[in-house]
Amino acid sequence: MKRLLIIGIGAGDPDHLTFQGAKAIAAADVFLLVDKGEAKDDLTRLRRDLIAAHGREPYRIVEARDPERDRTAPAYTAAVENWRSRRADIYESFVTDELADGQTGALLVWGDPGVYDSTLAALDEIDAEFEYDVIPGISSVSALTARHRVTLTRVGRPVHLTTGRRLAADGPTGDDVLVMLDAACSFAGTADDFHIYWGAYLGTPDEILISGPVTEVADRIRAVRAEARARKGWIMDTYLLRRTNCRPGPLRSPNGSLRDLS
Ligand SMILES: C[S@@+](CC[C@H](N)C(=O)[O-])C[C@H]1O[C@@H](n2cnc3c(N)ncnc32)[C@H](O)[C@@H]1O
Repeated sequence: MKRLLIIGIGAGDPDHLTFQGAKAIAAADVFLLVDKGEAKDDLTRLRRDLIAAHGREPYRIVEARDPERDRTAPAYTAAVENWRSRRADIYESFVTDELADGQTGALLVWGDPGVYDSTLAALDEIDAEFEYDVIPGISSVSALTARHRVTLTRVGRPVHLTTGRRLAADGPTGDDVLVMLDAACSFAGTADDFHIYWGAYLGTPDEILISGPVTEVADRIRAVRAEARARKGWIMDTYLLRRTNCRPGPLRSPNGSLRDLS
């Protein structure tokens, strides 16, 4: 049987790699590196460095070019699904053409494979016989809260994990909202009782952290973000919006009754 390891490598700091991740890299015979183009060279470089540090010879690296996603398409979900299917074709060729029976292939996934990542969904589309395991990684969510020295959750309260696109469409859908994939600084219109913990290039030497009431720091974040993006050619940023001065609301218990947590 052919085997794949889907390894979460953390959000940018080589030290984010877990012992389990390092052992998984050491266990792989062939690595697939999907190149996202020159602008994101840094992301590929970290993967190569981790393979060089933890891979066990002899191993091979197979390279493939990431399919372009149509970012102008109005139907976002359809465009992502189309891109994911083309990614699935790359994974299928990798399993079929590059792995012999009994060999282990590895895909190094940014952050944690379970957080806004299409790899596992793409593997479902593959028409080939293989088994696979998933190794969790430190996501940008954990990196963000740790670097700001705040907790993701507040006692007994939910957190809403969402995208910038959804935040722009729906507004903050809770008192604690963690936002990823936001190219448009959608926090800008947020009400004045929200605090923002913002981080870009978390875990890397270029890391930038800004926090404060949204109304006070929104313009600064926008300016810093635009400057950094222009300088490096790409940016990845994540933020937590936290409503201040809010009382814990009622929670619905399994029997349907409401329980006040205040
Ligand atoms: C396709 S998602 C991948 C998320 C990844 N699987 C994770 O666990 O963090 C890409 C988004 O993750 C966030 N992100 C990933 N790495 C980051 C970093 N080092 N600093 C800030 N945000 C990051 C950004 O919101 C970016 O738009």
